[in-house]
Amino acid sequence: MKITYYGHSCFSLETEGKILLFDPFVSFNELASSIDVDSLETDFVLISHGHQDHVADAESILKRTGAKLISNYEIVSWFANKGISNNHPMNLGGNVALTREIKVKMVNAIHSSGLPDGTYGGNPGGFVIQSSEGNIYFAGDTALTLDMKLIAEEFNIKLALLPIGDNFTMGVKDAVKAADFVQVKEVIGLHYDTFPYIKIDKELAKKTFEEAGKKLHLLNIGESITL
Ligand code: NI
Ligand code: MN
Repeated sequence: MKITYYGHSCFSLETEGKILLFDPFVSFNELASSIDVDSLETDFVLISHGHQDHVADAESILKRTGAKLISNYEIVSWFANKGISNNHPMNLGGNVALTREIKVKMVNAIHSSGLPDGTYGGNPGGFVIQSSEGNIYFAGDTALTLDMKLIAEEFNIKLALLPIGDNFTMGVKDAVKAADFVQVKEVIGLHYDTFPYIKIDKELAKKTFEEAGKKLHLLNIGESITL
């Protein structure tokens, strides 16, 4: 599987011949100016919650690519009103098979989820993506929660994508605990440095994970990693 980072919490996962794009926020992110949002290809767009920094480019990408939107019922309905009819609504605890080879479970996140125009965005979530190439956990925006232990009970997680920027989500120390809860050694950090409130010391973050026996990957925007 291949993961490409597009800044903030946006990344793509290529597995089983499909591309899944998560939380598209690219054209509004000054740090991601090297990425041409109109060149991103994808088969599915997965959205964790309704905040602007997770949905901003979704409408244009969905309309251009015809990709299927996967999110909670409220967010899917909001985009349906904008003409996005290729969608699959779900909610916390639900499972869906995207293809015969790729399955997704929507899991709990402790956060909020208002949409950019103030519409109620339902509950925030995260996703566990299952394929024969391994299971990955994308936490979305969340605080540390004991619910993460349930993920390790059900799944063998190969890689977790966790917010580490603090202030609006968990910070580095709690993200290390989250990695312990889901029993994963390999972590990709998300949701840091984009805004002044979430600037972090990247070297210290890597060292903190290393001291806990874990590897924190902080990808450059546009960089890919193959696992
Ligand atoms: Ni948020
Ligand atoms: Mn956010």
